[in-house]
Amino acid sequence: MYYIISHANPHTPAAILAKGCRLLPNIPPSFNDSNGDGIGDIPGITQKLDYIKSIGCNAIWLSPVFDSPFNDGGYDVADYKKVAPRYGTNEDLVNLFAEAHKRGMRVILDLVAGHTSVEHAWFKDSSKPSPNGYADRYIWLEPIWRERPAELTTVTGYAERNGAYVANFFWCQPALNYGYADPDPKNPWEKPLDHPECVATREALRDTMRFWLDKGADGFRVDMAQSLIRGHDEKKRIAALQTFWQGIRQWIDLEYPEAILVSEWSFPTYAIDAGFHVDFMLHFETIAYNSLFRNHRKELISSLPRGNTYFERSASGDIRQFADIYIEHYKATRNRGYISVPTGNHDSPPRLGEDRTPEELKCALLFLMMLPGIPFIYYGDEIGMRYMAGLPSKEGGYERTGARTPMQWDDKQNAGFSTAPETALYLPVEASPGKRTVTAAENDPGSILNFVRALLKLRKDNPALGSKGDIDFIYTKTAGYPLVFERKLGDQRFWVAVNPSATERKADWTCDISTPTPLVPTQGALDVQNGRAQITLPAGGYGLWRVR
Ligand code: NOJ
Repeated sequence: MYYIISHANPHTPAAILAKGCRLLPNIPPSFNDSNGDGIGDIPGITQKLDYIKSIGCNAIWLSPVFDSPFNDGGYDVADYKKVAPRYGTNEDLVNLFAEAHKRGMRVILDLVAGHTSVEHAWFKDSSKPSPNGYADRYIWLEPIWRERPAELTTVTGYAERNGAYVANFFWCQPALNYGYADPDPKNPWEKPLDHPECVATREALRDTMRFWLDKGADGFRVDMAQSLIRGHDEKKRIAALQTFWQGIRQWIDLEYPEAILVSEWSFPTYAIDAGFHVDFMLHFETIAYNSLFRNHRKELISSLPRGNTYFERSASGDIRQFADIYIEHYKATRNRGYISVPTGNHDSPPRLGEDRTPEELKCALLFLMMLPGIPFIYYGDEIGMRYMAGLPSKEGGYERTGARTPMQWDDKQNAGFSTAPETALYLPVEASPGKRTVTAAENDPGSILNFVRALLKLRKDNPALGSKGDIDFIYTKTAGYPLVFERKLGDQRFWVAVNPSATERKADWTCDISTPTPLVPTQGALDVQNGRAQITLPAGGYGLWRVR
């Protein structure tokens, strides 16, 4: 589960997202088990809406809740129109939408647009040896013995059809056929975008979207949005992909003007141009995200791990690995869409809280919650949940499994997640969560949870700190600790400073302000005199000031 945040005019989708903080619970099996069978479910999420709202979040994103053999945590959908029985029923999901709406909250579903499960009826038909209406719904290279291009992940021997199918991710996720931007006539499996079966795939996607939007869903996070259209020339491929998504956005704007499209593309410049309201800045296309919190755990992260980690005591990171790329995308998308730098997600081991102290976590969360765009909080990050290293893989999670463990609600059995016997739990609960439970955090005014609440309230009350406030990095020097940046909108201005290193750090810069007012408990000092600002932050220190 994830929570999201935003603030603005409630009548447009981007505004809905721009309107405060949205905390999106992802990973339904791990959030709250309402019927004691050991696995989280949709009624369990509904029971916790008030908690999510209390953080200051106004939307939730559910990772896939549809029928599936769960070979990849549900990202292998067998029926897009049926809730997986383990999570409840379609009625339960409709009820979640209704209960969220009553509270002014939104629910976004995960749209696994690029592939299905091998169990999906379309694929079962497509796999048959005799041609039928679904033969080209997936990409098949025939016959099975032919030479196959190395860049394609192909699977042979799965079905009686005399061919190899192209997989999008794991073997069990055959790629849906949306066509090639520049098909090579020598390769018969490369269909043009207007091939009837590619058009049918596109229509089927709209049909799925319409099905859930009509039932009250508020939009979608689109899985691997950048993967749908294939091609040889990357420029042509991206252009065709953007045309494809722009078509979806035009249709959405017309028929479901309040719906939200969030992409897992990780290249906001392309994704916002393609019509998405929000794009995550994750680890696929840019190195920026991992350089913030995760590069020191290179063995856990597969995509483009380069450089060091900025939020790390050893202070070997370079914030410009993030800031330069972020600013480039920010400038290219400002006023047209939003970038989200999530606290984490179900694909990003380890969790932010892995080995950080509560104060170090506050330092990291201050940075994240004070960025423009849309904050996304991965469930449990608001209470500092840990990564459980070494767990056996569950449902295709591998290293990701340890970041998907049950939410820690209180000090009761299974940390309040489920009344099932421990042995029946979807995944084990952290052995001694101690203060890392919601109840403990509620009772501690200095908890991470209450800190996040205060930050989200500041975001809500001050447009300059919200989604549309501008950002300027002030102090991002080589080996630059602390990091200082400004948020501003109209005549509101704020400075944010963080020092994730293990030693005291100082910085100074010229400025045109005279009065800084601290807004969160700040260790260290900010002194402004005669057009010069000087800051000293102790190890792990942070601060937020209103400046005039
Ligand atoms: C990205 C999802 O976030 C991840 O969990 C999944 O394994 C792949 N896409 C394949 O759908």
